[in-house]
Amino acid sequence: MPTVQEIRQASADGEPLTMLTAYDAPTAGIVDAAGIDVILVGDSMGNAVLGYDSTLPVTMEDVASHTAAVTRATEEALVVADMPFLSYGTSEGDGIENAGRLLKEAGANAVKIESGPHTVELTERLVQLGIPVMAHLGLTPQRLNQVGGYTRQGTTESDAREIRDLARRHEEAGAFSLVLEHVPDDLAADVTADLDIPVIGIGAGPETDGQVLVVTDVIGLSASAPPFAEEFGDVRGEIEDAVTAYREAVEDGAFPDSND
Ligand code: KIV
Repeated sequence: MPTVQEIRQASADGEPLTMLTAYDAPTAGIVDAAGIDVILVGDSMGNAVLGYDSTLPVTMEDVASHTAAVTRATEEALVVADMPFLSYGTSEGDGIENAGRLLKEAGANAVKIESGPHTVELTERLVQLGIPVMAHLGLTPQRLNQVGGYTRQGTTESDAREIRDLARRHEEAGAFSLVLEHVPDDLAADVTADLDIPVIGIGAGPETDGQVLVVTDVIGLSASAPPFAEEFGDVRGEIEDAVTAYREAVEDGAFPDSND
């Protein structure tokens, strides 16, 4: 398994980091065996597999139980569990307890926190306690109601400056890597050049140290995907074909064969 320290070093070594979400044991086993460096048990599970239309309803119980399923099936990849909406930020104690639970009970190796000015101190405290933190800037979907949609961030000079500044502050606070979501390519390139820790982009262009996507988008299972995602398969089509073939076989009497 790559350690947090090895992931931290990856930007220095120049090898692109690969990260993909997974939410269940069979998918995690496939993602792990394919050699993906980091598996993120993202709160994107809200949209991807739990049927919500945002990440806001996702609970600590959801993330803990899906993370435990993923860690049971993962041998090599580093497993990062996402801190869901309001599992941090309400008080330092709650943030620490919830992050600790994802390591202690669910077996995650690190947590990811949608970051802002309010998460610098929490990041520092968690790292002091031995809980590795992946920061997340740019589009942070838990702030959907504040930003008004899943729109590209960092497009004005002042927003870009704030993202650059927060990226540095989270690196100084001890974050071992940073996810940068849906920002202009040149801003992502600047942040990547500025930081020593690896920057993992999603909708942030090709100049970051690594890439992350949501697994259901990558395999072609999602009903809809963000503009920056890419389908590398057609699992929705495969499932539709298999389920239709099963229904037809039962209706035609072709399945099952006699047991005798
Ligand atoms: O929840 C998630 O899957 C994420 C990634 C899209 C980075 O935050």
